Amino acid sequence: MLGPVILAASRSDRMRRLVTAAPGTKQVVDRFIPGETVEDVLPIVRELTDQGLELTMDVVGEDITTPEQAEAARDAYLELIARLEELELGPRVEMSVKLSMFGQDLENGVELSRANVRPVVEAAAAIGTTVTLDAEDHTTIDSMLATHAWLREDFPQTGCVIQAMLYRTEEDARRLAASGSRVRIVKGAYKEPAEVAYQSKAEIDKAYVRIMKILMEGDGYPMIGSHDPRMISIGQELARRAGRKMDEYEFQMLFGIRGDESLRLAAEGHRMRVYTAYGTDWYGYFMRRLAEKPSNLKFFLRSMVSK
Ligand code: FDA
Repeated sequence: MLGPVILAASRSDRMRRLVTAAPGTKQVVDRFIPGETVEDVLPIVRELTDQGLELTMDVVGEDITTPEQAEAARDAYLELIARLEELELGPRVEMSVKLSMFGQDLENGVELSRANVRPVVEAAAAIGTTVTLDAEDHTTIDSMLATHAWLREDFPQTGCVIQAMLYRTEEDARRLAASGSRVRIVKGAYKEPAEVAYQSKAEIDKAYVRIMKILMEGDGYPMIGSHDPRMISIGQELARRAGRKMDEYEFQMLFGIRGDESLRLAAEGHRMRVYTAYGTDWYGYFMRRLAEKPSNLKFFLRSMVSK
């Protein structure tokens, strides 16, 4: 019950001001967002890759209001990619981007976000890696998938995210699997109405399994984004039945969640990628992490009281 309330708060400016100013917030934020600058996060990139993990990097931010902010987002990714080039990690570190941060929701948003994301995709390709387009709320999925298809004309390795909770996603998965895309399947982190999305965990989990099956049997590269032990073991079984080798799909988890399990999967020989977010505009990302697990909220509230 708490999840939807927290997700509603994630869109409130008043709550944003309260939460960001609250004592104790930073301590909890640090668990999920391990830094504000490239300098903060590069040691983490080195540490995780030394442990055999791969990464996808997210410069946090979304719901921007001016074209200048969209350009600043582009520049932040370009700075990150320039610094990654020095580490020579190639495809072991890719980028995840939210098109809303590149201006998709502003006037002429599709053109604007494409103009901003393309240089990032080009720069990533130049250092031998790629970009995955995150999935945001359901109203943005058509334009995200259209931009994904547009980018793939020149950069076929560009990935995208689909959300099991949306009714439309099985159909999207079929199309993407047939076109040979890199696709991350996640359960979905946004508050969505019953007209477009499953509401219960059981229904979302069942859809997640159906979509994994479509992706594993298809021609693309499935990326299983989940911390759920059941989804992970079903994913392994579906990959085996589809005759996929261990380097023909991967698992992904968020930084700060089930770190031991990601190391275990990597040690078993799986490709394991950690979604690592950093930056100053962390509010939306942080609130979605609180919404996913009520005990995170309890921990957060306790840390505020103990200050
Ligand atoms: P589920 O929520 O059932 O959790 C299973 C178990 O994992 C829990 O019991 C708990 O142990 C642990 N867990 C999960 N979330 C936790 C948390 N926040 N804190 C502590 N423990 C937690 N969503 C989206 O809408 N668009 C996107 O682009 C992405 N991108 C993305 C990338 C990657 C790599 C991952 C792993 C996830 C996303 N998501 C996302 C988020 C996703 O939609 C979903 O909200 C979370 O992954 C939680 O769902 P699980 O599959 O982990 O299962």
